[in-house]
Amino acid sequence: MAPPSVAGAPRAVLFDVFGTLFDVYSVGRRLESLFPGHGERASQLWRDKQIEYTHLCSMADRYRPFSELTRCALHFTCTRLGLPLTPTIEQTLMDEYRRLAPFAENRAVLQTLRARGIRAGVLSNGEPPLLDSVIAHAGFGAWLDPVLSAHSVQRFKTDDAVYALGPQALGLPARQILFVSSNGWDAIGATWYGYTTLWINRAGAPLDVLGTEPTRTGSNLRDVLDFFAEPAEHPPPV
Ligand code: LAC
Repeated sequence: MAPPSVAGAPRAVLFDVFGTLFDVYSVGRRLESLFPGHGERASQLWRDKQIEYTHLCSMADRYRPFSELTRCALHFTCTRLGLPLTPTIEQTLMDEYRRLAPFAENRAVLQTLRARGIRAGVLSNGEPPLLDSVIAHAGFGAWLDPVLSAHSVQRFKTDDAVYALGPQALGLPARQILFVSSNGWDAIGATWYGYTTLWINRAGAPLDVLGTEPTRTGSNLRDVLDFFAEPAEHPPPV
């Protein structure tokens, strides 16, 4: 059973997926092995372009699935950096996206949330088959429900239609849902929508200057647990 919560305190959690539960820069190692000396720059540019394309397509009402835009961003990246993208390399890198490594502490955090009776799901730009693959590969399937995808509204974050999926699915007002993202812009978008938010700022990045701050900022996923007291029947060790 979840402990009784104070009025307005979060009663459930929704995680962003790419960059938050799973380390998108882990593809950098694969890129480095394929293109020695270019892994870090290529993975950064790939990620930035991928997100830029989601924003562009969403604003222009030209939705295309996240995987497609990820592939387009890879082509741009390789052209920009002069890297030879063969069909085999392209497939290797796209496959890598379906088996991204989770951050080290995430498994234990999801298990602890489950033990404390806190419902935890995801709300992601990724389309359902991509989400299913990456979640299954990490063995996280048993701890994540619901799995909410921007695909169902054909928009991307930071469109309200995407953030609205959380309250609809959980039957809770947004402020009673903790939305957790490592993407500063996503944490701000969710704050605008009305969620209680936690920005996981692993890299010590500056906050986007948009006049809005997340409810809290943390340094890794364990900071999620501070929002949810331990149940009384499991008192903390002295
Ligand atoms: C997601 C991207 C934004 O999972 O990381 O929605």
